[in-house]
Amino acid sequence: MRIILLGAPGAGKGTQAGFLTKRYNIPQISTGDMLRGAIKAGTELGKMAKAAMDAGQLVTDEIIIGLVKDRIKEDDCKNGFLLDGFPRTIAQADALKSAGVDIDAVIEIDVPDTEIVKRMSGRRAHLASGRTYHVVFNPPKVDGKDDVTGEELVQRDDDKEEVVLDRLKVYHEQTKPLIGYYKEQAEKIASLTYITVDGTADISEVEAAIVSKLG
Ligand code: AP5
Ligand code: ZN
Repeated sequence: MRIILLGAPGAGKGTQAGFLTKRYNIPQISTGDMLRGAIKAGTELGKMAKAAMDAGQLVTDEIIIGLVKDRIKEDDCKNGFLLDGFPRTIAQADALKSAGVDIDAVIEIDVPDTEIVKRMSGRRAHLASGRTYHVVFNPPKVDGKDDVTGEELVQRDDDKEEVVLDRLKVYHEQTKPLIGYYKEQAEKIASLTYITVDGTADISEVEAAIVSKLG
């Protein structure tokens, strides 16, 4: 199963990816997590990505496309993968298509901007694994600690309100056109399913809606 998760920053892509990767036994490929890992490790990629990420802007298509193409060639992607945060521009989607990658499902998680801003301030993250929590909607078992490792949770640098607003603007301008792009492809390609779920419902309800629509 090859899945793309589409949705605004904070729509719940990472949260749902956690469930879907277990259910379908496929790896999660989160470009955001990969970039945060590179920043933490102080690599060249991390240095190039940091300024764009801190400003809520996109990292260049060239860098991201190279990163994803290399990642999906790895052994654990043979039976499929879940793309979380990629593609984010029409150029990235075209690159995937011209690389001959056949996608089975595009899942759009729909959440209005007003809800997003409320959510981001309460998000807490375990950066090493990409696991995310919310102080109200999805609290960790022990306050401020990751459920699995017990390590400290942090607030992401780009979750400040002014950066969230910039990320939403970038989403509307550059990523939202992918909704039309993939709906059109799903009409032409029989093996490609496009589904939309209401991302304002409870986390478990969003999960159930995805599973029931995916079949
Ligand atoms: P990335 O890490 O992908 O960030 P994003 O798309 O902005 O999405 P988020 O991770 O913020 O949100 P999410 O949808 O995963 O939501 P989550 O599940 O955490 O990218 C970061 C940056 O990297 C970009 O800005 C860009 O600079 C760069 N980048 C990455 N990919 C790129 C690409 N392809 N091209 C160019 N640049 C790229 O949930 C959010 C919060 O809400 C959590 O606290 C969660 O617990 C809570 N929550 C989730 N679901 C619900 C629910 N149903 N009800 C209530 N709360 C919920
Ligand atoms: Zn995420």
